[in-house]
Amino acid sequence: MALIETSPPASLWSRLVGRLERFGRRFRPRFDWIAADVTDRCNLRCTFCGTDHSGRSGTVMDRTTFQRLCGLMPLVADGACLLSCRFEPLLHPCLMDLIESIPACSRRKVAFTTSLAMPLDDETIGRLGASGIHHVNVSVESLRADVYEAIRRGGRFAGFLDNLGRLAARFAVPGAPRLRFITVVLQENVDELVSIVETCATRYGGSHHELRHVYEPLGAARRGRRLRGHARPGRYRLRPVHDR
Ligand SMILES: C[S@@+](CC[C@H](N)C(=O)[O-])C[C@H]1O[C@@H](n2cnc3c(N)ncnc32)[C@H](O)[C@@H]1O
Ligand code: SF4
Repeated sequence: MALIETSPPASLWSRLVGRLERFGRRFRPRFDWIAADVTDRCNLRCTFCGTDHSGRSGTVMDRTTFQRLCGLMPLVADGACLLSCRFEPLLHPCLMDLIESIPACSRRKVAFTTSLAMPLDDETIGRLGASGIHHVNVSVESLRADVYEAIRRGGRFAGFLDNLGRLAARFAVPGAPRLRFITVVLQENVDELVSIVETCATRYGGSHHELRHVYEPLGAARRGRRLRGHARPGRYRLRPVHDR
């Protein structure tokens, strides 16, 4: 009898834990990432790029497909629906229209990575700043013109820096997307890494900086290029440099 009398509090507790777990599951993201590309275009041919550009068709994602993508966004955490992984999203001629068509409740789910190599007008930068997306990753392998242009083939350093300065100024206001940086570690920039990270954090207000080794040499390997990635394998994340 005594055993039976003590069991109700225990089972109440386990019922409460069970309820809390079910409650948590309802709100936990169902997937880690959505990795999409809104286009298969790219205007550069970076020496280390892991993307195979040989079979590209110049396709851009249409609105119907994008709406389907919007339907999946609630399944991931903020910043975990990527609109670019292998190509250059700013080359989608209607990128801002697509982003602005995302339901307000899903805008924070979205992020994308860009080389910032194509000229960006102030209107586009203003729309991005007001878009409500979570963050933009800017790829930066060097802040020296000669090194940048040798690595980011086809890119103009002056244009990149101009875009970056205006984007950072617009993102420096509360409520704007965060600015993050990705640097692929290469023989060409290994001595510049500390200075790149410092400059991106202090001058451009970066909230995160990912330093990564060449981990995907597919595209370059297919083209028979010699990769000049730094020797050690792996991937290192340095964060936060500071967080806003
Ligand atoms: C493939 S790019 C696509 C977005 C955009 N075109 C850009 O360069 O930022 C996505 C990110 O992967 C990085 N990346 C490219 N090739 C890589 C490789 N072989 N290993 C690791 N990262 C790579 C780029 O520097 C960029 O930060
Ligand atoms: S790293 Fe980005 S910008 Fe450079 S070639 Fe690859 S996809 Fe294009």
